[in-house]
Amino acid sequence: MKSKNSLFGFLISAALLNAGLTSAFAADETIRSLAEERGRFIGTILNSEWFNDNIEPEFEQIHKTQFNVVVAENEMKFDATEPKENEFNYTKGDKMIAYAQANNIRVRGHALAWHSQVPGWVNDYKGQKEKLLKVLKNHIDSVVGHWKGKVAEWDVVNEAVNDEYNAGWRSQGSVWYEGIGAEFLDSAFVWTHAIDPDAELCYNDYSLEWGMRENSKASFVVEQVKRWKKNGIPITCVGTQTHIEIAHETTPQNVRDFAKALAELDITLNITELDIGFPKGSAGSLGAADYAKQGHLYRQFMDVFLEEPNMGEFVIWGLTDAHSWLDEQQGKTEGLLYDKQYKPKPAFDSIMVSLKSHPASEVKTPYTFKKDTIPSDTTVQDTTVKDTTVRDTTAKDTSNAIMKFTGLQKLSMHLAGRTLFITGTSAKPSTVELFDMQGRPVFSTKCEKGSIDLKHTAEGLYVVRIRTGSTSYMQRIAIK
Ligand code: G3I
Repeated sequence: MKSKNSLFGFLISAALLNAGLTSAFAADETIRSLAEERGRFIGTILNSEWFNDNIEPEFEQIHKTQFNVVVAENEMKFDATEPKENEFNYTKGDKMIAYAQANNIRVRGHALAWHSQVPGWVNDYKGQKEKLLKVLKNHIDSVVGHWKGKVAEWDVVNEAVNDEYNAGWRSQGSVWYEGIGAEFLDSAFVWTHAIDPDAELCYNDYSLEWGMRENSKASFVVEQVKRWKKNGIPITCVGTQTHIEIAHETTPQNVRDFAKALAELDITLNITELDIGFPKGSAGSLGAADYAKQGHLYRQFMDVFLEEPNMGEFVIWGLTDAHSWLDEQQGKTEGLLYDKQYKPKPAFDSIMVSLKSHPASEVKTPYTFKKDTIPSDTTVQDTTVKDTTVRDTTAKDTSNAIMKFTGLQKLSMHLAGRTLFITGTSAKPSTVELFDMQGRPVFSTKCEKGSIDLKHTAEGLYVVRIRTGSTSYMQRIAIK
């Protein structure tokens, strides 16, 4: 008998773990709508397979539902847009712009001046400063001009800092730096601004998440931003690509410190290419604890993102593990929010819990949504997240005082000591679910009599969800 029960328990746990929090959340809320409520952008790339109409139908469905900022994986780069000198190809980029406009999605333009993915004809002008200046200006004038008003933000310069321990400009392997010198960066910003003065203009790079130590890439970039600001160079944002591995546990805090340093310079920091990969050799042997750890890191990045007022975009470099540069080029794997079957992973749940735990009224944003970029019928109409009183009270309460949470459609919950009172439900019993802050289910029960006893629940922060019929209401509680 005992073994039967154990087996049953195991099967239930396994089912819960497999189901995760996602399936429960997904029916009525999206990370996009939660981000929008907070004035923030969450996004991912359109993979080259999408541009080539060679991708599963789930891709686009999920993409437009869950994300509100988009980047082309390769199709707006120099070699794609100007494959031959002064002959421009905007077909694929136009396809993305049309898709973004149809779905009220913000567009990041990636990238104007980068040493990689430049066509051979540019390299043929190696060392010819005047010619290269003309080539770069003509490229910027044409590409930025073509998409003027449609691209909200450009990566004006990408990856111009070297990989040395003592950071400096990438002086080798860059046709721009070797031919022009560091002034190519300044010029690129000035030219882009002249064509589209309303676009946000970013410097974008990798390894910026390694911290602000002396001579690090991040410190070097901060120094350059200071110089640019002092000299009137029109930079408005920095992008930290943030391609990391599961072991890189210190990086969220580093990004927070970096954001604070840039805030002092009135510069926005965006996460532009996040992925958190496992070593490729671990494919097939990853378990729940691994995915939970990955979720925890994603969660930490989202927490930082929401808590730093000068961060505006949180962009992941891929949607599904089925299509990712990590497997193709990096010796890493499974770094994204959706698995190869398009099933959301615990990382997705973690991001959702982070969003839910940061009330909209407390999240500041450097960007304002243009009226027409917020869909009028966002899936989530849960105004409870805007209730500041609730969260403030919860966070600060140290007594057994009754805490009242007012929800939508008269649903409400009161935590008095260790008893959770549910009121406002209809005749039907409500389902009450408790999740930890990582988004993992703690327990689920029916509330028949209007209250739930939490005396066996460990102290800590949790998210409670009540569901009655089609109405659901979620809130964070602190059990003390
Ligand atoms: O277009 C050719 C195609 O004709 C050919 O058949 C195919 C065969 O391999 O290659 C195709 O080009 C590839 C291209 O992606 C489009 O799929 C290139 O070989 C390949 O190198 C290229 O990789 C891209 C990489 O940038 C190049 O640097 C990745 O897809 C893209 O995810 C990656 O993105 C970069 C960001 O732009 C900057 N930050 C780092 C990030 C990851 O490397």
